[in-house]
Amino acid sequence: MNHKHILQHTIFKTIGACADELDMEAYVIGGFVRDYFLKRGDSKDIDVVAIGSGISLAQKVAFKLEGKPEVTIFKNFGTAMLKYKNLELEFVGARKESYTRDSRNPVVEDGTLEDDQNRRDFTINAMAFSLNKSKFGDLLDPFNGVKDLEKQIIRTPLKPEITYSDDPLRMMRAIRFATQLNFTIESKSLDAISKNRERIKIISKERVVDELHKILLAEKPSKGFSLLNKTGLLPLILPELTALQGIEEIEGQRHKDNFWHTLEVVDNISKTTNNLWLRWAALLHDIGKAPTKKFHKKIGWTFHAHEFVGSKMVYKLFKRLRMPLNDKMKFVQKMVLMSSRPVILSEEHVTDSAVRRLVFDAGDYVDDLMTLCEADITTKNARKLKKYKNNFKIVREKIVEVEERDKIRNFQPPVTGEEIMQTFGLKPSREIGILKDAIKEAILEGEIANEYSAAFKFMLKKGKELGLSVKSNKASKS
Ligand code: CTP
Repeated sequence: MNHKHILQHTIFKTIGACADELDMEAYVIGGFVRDYFLKRGDSKDIDVVAIGSGISLAQKVAFKLEGKPEVTIFKNFGTAMLKYKNLELEFVGARKESYTRDSRNPVVEDGTLEDDQNRRDFTINAMAFSLNKSKFGDLLDPFNGVKDLEKQIIRTPLKPEITYSDDPLRMMRAIRFATQLNFTIESKSLDAISKNRERIKIISKERVVDELHKILLAEKPSKGFSLLNKTGLLPLILPELTALQGIEEIEGQRHKDNFWHTLEVVDNISKTTNNLWLRWAALLHDIGKAPTKKFHKKIGWTFHAHEFVGSKMVYKLFKRLRMPLNDKMKFVQKMVLMSSRPVILSEEHVTDSAVRRLVFDAGDYVDDLMTLCEADITTKNARKLKKYKNNFKIVREKIVEVEERDKIRNFQPPVTGEEIMQTFGLKPSREIGILKDAIKEAILEGEIANEYSAAFKFMLKKGKELGLSVKSNKASKS
């Protein structure tokens, strides 16, 4: 079948013409072809394979293109990259040998197209369109990738053991594609992943995390995490999550399975936000429950301070996976630390002061925190579900109301420490902290409004109680 019509971009004709001049074959291969059949929209990443030197082809193409874009050459990988308009093109020579991107040795470019296709990860990623003039647009699909797309199946071109041992990251890629596309992984492949799972250890953390991000950003991330769990990859990557698995029963008292609960929460939150870090927070919000779990004869199961313990674990987990230890990590920590706060609120009568405290502690993240907590409701009891949802609605409304009136978000003390010192003629001392704290508490409790004159009056009263006497004129007048 010919697919000329999709190769409308002039770049494809240019590549074909250059390949003809160099007397070599050239193909567009991989993700671009797959995404065309999936109607995923035009891919901006274009992989070109040459039967010969990919680097020479890239150089010739760049020379012909308007603006003569720069070619970046990765000699050790035998690849060349250039950017043209909004496209990123990668050129590689067809390979016979095992396809490994991490290889430190120069790659020998001596294969045919079939050799190259054999060494790719999945049948759906091994399809190619010819670019040479005489066969422009011809599809080369030796492993029936188009059929597998129709059947929605992830299958390797060679025996799964070979494909996964060529590059163990492909175990994660299989699961990631299955999650993104809602495909099934062929059972032979799934078995091979289970068998070879330990090999994931040789893959750099960055590449593993990249796949985790993609799984988390899918429509239904739970599919990926349950596959990671089923194949035994999860305990090697995120043991904190597998530790949440299981239901224990003592004296007839059971707790819920926090692993499956977590996956439900992640799916829930994915319906309302595409914020990757908020999705991470959902994934990690209960990790403190495994190390804090205890059974007490009188009250049953407890997970005392699991939010605090969990937020500390977030740091260790990010560090181990070489994830950024920056504001993103702090955001996830904060979400985990505060993850039960709105829940406690929603279980009882929602007071203004409790809402003010929540807004004070969560600051700008209060909306994200509410989103997380709403996703955390997984009860199957219809009456409870309705009650919690309704209470969260009240909390959300109160947040808006309280915020309009009291401006608690990013709270700035209305009376500064400097002014307290001046008023009472104090040197830096404990009293200043006590007074500042008392003012803040009075505002949060709703005893006084969040504004200067009320806070100043309150400070004078408190100062008196502490036995301080007023020194400055301004204060004696008021
Ligand atoms: N590939 C492979 N094994 C890998 C990575 C990539 O065989 N471990 C091949 C596949 O043919 C793939 C192509 O290289 O289609 C390009 O890889 P990449 O750009 O990483 O992924 P895409 O398939 O384009 O998909 P995505 O952009 O969603 O990552």
